[in-house]
Amino acid sequence: MRKKIIAGNWKMNLTFDEGQKLTSEIVNMYKDEKIKDVIAVLNPPFPHLFPVKKLVGDTPGIFVGAQNCSDKESGAFTGEVSAKILASFGVNYVIIGHSERREYFKESNEMLAEKVKAALANGLTPIFCCGESLDIRNAGTHEPNVKFQLTDSLFNLSASDFAKVVIAYEPIWAIGTGKTATSDEAQEMHLALRRHIATKYGKDIANNISILYGGSMNAGNAADLLSKPDVDGGLIGGASLKSRDFLEIIKSY
Ligand code: PGA
Repeated sequence: MRKKIIAGNWKMNLTFDEGQKLTSEIVNMYKDEKIKDVIAVLNPPFPHLFPVKKLVGDTPGIFVGAQNCSDKESGAFTGEVSAKILASFGVNYVIIGHSERREYFKESNEMLAEKVKAALANGLTPIFCCGESLDIRNAGTHEPNVKFQLTDSLFNLSASDFAKVVIAYEPIWAIGTGKTATSDEAQEMHLALRRHIATKYGKDIANNISILYGGSMNAGNAADLLSKPDVDGGLIGGASLKSRDFLEIIKSY
């Protein structure tokens, strides 16, 4: 069964108190409104993970994710955080290959493949990000470009491992720019990716993979994007920092 997921990527934002307040508001709303069919994943910066996890507790429908993890198991890698450490206190998801990590931290497809493996080996669900730059979109080569990101980082996984991955299609030109892909552009890419997955892993697995859209999704455009048959949720940056906006997106689903 394809899951409906709305994941909030806080990026490098919010102090401790602000993070606690935001989390409490989301938890309260999930409890009050008994939302169960849409999964919320909160992805705060590392130091928030443990306190956010404590606040979320066992609230149905809410999970906690990291924004990154190391490709290494453990050892002398100052400043890094392993999937094993994250899993040891109940983190459930981890964003891997966000375009900001690819660009500013030079994370290659090869390294991302290792990160995905590390996450899966420790029972974390990777939210694997892919997406094209504006130049590539303008050149019209966005579909092969994004398909290759999947092929290169994910298609070495076994079918049972691949089935556990969540994909997030995030056109780079839409991230933090206020310029979202149209719902038709998102649908077109999501369907192309699902078909690409089917060629490698078969239709059943392809149909059951959740593919999220990310890039300036907000309370105003979410309903349209989420109405598309191959859009299974969203990865939300800016609009995940205010409970009202984040919850509006969830309710519009
Ligand atoms: P945005 O970010 O919603 O602020 O565009 C999305 C993301 O980077 O995941």
